[in-house]
Amino acid sequence: MRDELQAVFGGTEGPDGVWSAPGRVNLIGEHTDYNGGLALPFAIDRRTSVAVRLRDDDRIRVATDFVDRGVVPGVIESTLETAHASTGWSRYVLGAAHVLRRELGVPGRGFEALVSSTVPVGVGVSSSAALESATIVALDELWGLGLDRREMVRLGQLVENEVVGAPTGTLDQSAVLLAQRDHAVLLDFRDGTAEQVPLGFEAAGLEILVIDSLVRHDHATGGYGERRRECEEAARIAGVPTLREIAVDDIERWAGRMPAHVHRRLRHIVTDTDRARRVADLVRAGRPREIGPVLTEGHASQRDDFEDSVPAIDAAVDAAVAAGALGARLTGGGFGGAAIALVDRAETARIAASTADAVEAAGHARPIVFTVHPSDGARRDA
Ligand code: GLA
Repeated sequence: MRDELQAVFGGTEGPDGVWSAPGRVNLIGEHTDYNGGLALPFAIDRRTSVAVRLRDDDRIRVATDFVDRGVVPGVIESTLETAHASTGWSRYVLGAAHVLRRELGVPGRGFEALVSSTVPVGVGVSSSAALESATIVALDELWGLGLDRREMVRLGQLVENEVVGAPTGTLDQSAVLLAQRDHAVLLDFRDGTAEQVPLGFEAAGLEILVIDSLVRHDHATGGYGERRRECEEAARIAGVPTLREIAVDDIERWAGRMPAHVHRRLRHIVTDTDRARRVADLVRAGRPREIGPVLTEGHASQRDDFEDSVPAIDAAVDAAVAAGALGARLTGGGFGGAAIALVDRAETARIAASTADAVEAAGHARPIVFTVHPSDGARRDA
């Protein structure tokens, strides 16, 4: 990226380094992060790279060659002092610089950053966590901060919560910063643990399809915050600090003691944490094919209890399963985005085409379908 950096920002020096972070898919355990539950995401083989060159003053200049929804080419100018006031895609870079300075009380240093990416935007595979995390690992090194990954997760969440205004949990940053190739990471949001779980998809001849519905979501303005408040209401009525404290056997005890829709949210969170545990147990035991039905069960829970799916994604899940996928479900924050499907590698192309055909025939936009493979988390590349 040396020539490109010079072409965009001028000067004779190359970048001080290139860092990257992946997107993620969540296998199971949705909206469990802010409820103290469990989730099982993995990093995907699509990454966002940031080539960074330090400056001797307080200016920050950010550019990208990436063209996607809401991403406009051109150089965005800011300073260390005004970085908090950024808008658009560059706020993930500028917001990260702002949060690091404020939270750690460091002066920081101006820089130029050139962003490249193969993580699609608005699909539900965490393009935002990829960009803010790539920036955080870069600035950690360039500013000499010595942060550990857990601390980076917290700082990335602050970028989302405070700069972007999305009231999200730590699922995405944890996946992107803690993931390892061929593994999923079992995150326990109550105990703060992260366990690497070998997926064994490759050896079992399995693959994950992402089915992008093209229905776009926005967690700063959409139903995400409303669901979060409903979960908090359920916990308050049940008298527990988080819904994690409710056992599967106790779910129906609360029926009729809270509004019906609030009780449905509770049921989704409690059962999805249970499903994350079951899926982790199955893959640990070398039985990854058997997770399929648990994934599809998780989708029904999101569609009927959490009510964060959309018709185009329900159609994609039904079509993928009808075409022979072992299981399928909505992944990520919902209200649009993508489904994932677990398929036999030999069937990938046929199931992808058949799913797209069926979704289109049902009157929705023809989805974009691509495969993803469990990959490494954020790292320095050059
Ligand atoms: C989004 C949020 C995460 C998490 C998921 C749902 O991706 O950023 O914190 O809540 O939705 O599991």
